[in-house]
Amino acid sequence: MLTDLTPSLLDTEFLAAVHAGLAADPKTLPCRYFYDREGSLLFEEICGLPEYYLTRTEDRILRERASEIAACLPSPVEVIELGSGSSRKTRRLLEAVLRRQPELRYTPVDISASMLRETAIALRETYPRLTVSPLAAEYGEALAQLRAHSGSSRLILFLGSNLGNFDPEESTRFLRGIRGLMREGDHALIGLDLQKDRTVLEAAYDDSQGVTAAFNRNLLRRINRELGGDFDLSAFRHGAHYHAEAGRVEMHLVSTRPQEIRVQDRRYSFREGETIHTENSYKFTLPGIRSLAARAGLHLARTWTDELEWFSVNLLEAWQVHGHSMA
Ligand code: TRP
Repeated sequence: MLTDLTPSLLDTEFLAAVHAGLAADPKTLPCRYFYDREGSLLFEEICGLPEYYLTRTEDRILRERASEIAACLPSPVEVIELGSGSSRKTRRLLEAVLRRQPELRYTPVDISASMLRETAIALRETYPRLTVSPLAAEYGEALAQLRAHSGSSRLILFLGSNLGNFDPEESTRFLRGIRGLMREGDHALIGLDLQKDRTVLEAAYDDSQGVTAAFNRNLLRRINRELGGDFDLSAFRHGAHYHAEAGRVEMHLVSTRPQEIRVQDRRYSFREGETIHTENSYKFTLPGIRSLAARAGLHLARTWTDELEWFSVNLLEAWQVHGHSMA
């Protein structure tokens, strides 16, 4: 078998995660490996799909409310964005802040270094008064690196309902991590998708052009290419189902026949219809958002939604919780 004798750290972690996930019952694969170059491009495509209302709804709320949001913040403020991607949605907000102060530091954080590079170049070209300090890192690493507080007030952005891809305990922990970047009076702006009709939700995660399916299957392609797996991509179907009681859309790869696959020296067998659970996307309620914020030591100051209440943009404020440890 052709395996690299000195695999990179990422490959080693990726391989270990894949083995652990495929050996589990039910089988899972970790969603953090969705985003290689190909995955990031497919995700950009998802954001433009007619069924995927999330991006354009959040975009519209941010566009229409940018000045109002900026007016809620102290001035001057610096902006940090976790999972910035192309920063397209953030532009209106940066513009609104730039109308209130002469200069602005913007720190986009993303796992894709190539995407960050392109974004930083484009932003610097458009906004001469903007200082862009990109950080290519995973969330955990970024939270650790950004902990030291420079002095000016902070606005931490976490958009796209990305918090919804964590389980409830993880999202509380993650919000606490964000809280750890903030001092009293700092803000976080969190975009969260809201609970709604199942048909709308399921279509958003199983589009008619099959882009979300390709995004999901890209995980298998990566395993084949980077870890020497032998998945037959045509033997796995994309599945997306809303579990209303849990408030989440689950994404799966469904084996269309009994089969055995191999990743390096290990084999895994699938029954027909057996699935690999690849991702959750939690859907929120406004009271749920308020209590989630409170559990993380944050106060929900404002919520903006579209008129159908499909999506929410939430301004959270850091406050001192006496007698509670934030660790
Ligand atoms: N956080 C967004 C969501 O849950 C984007 C996203 C993450 C996504 N993983 C995905 C979208 C997988 C489609 C498929 O919707």
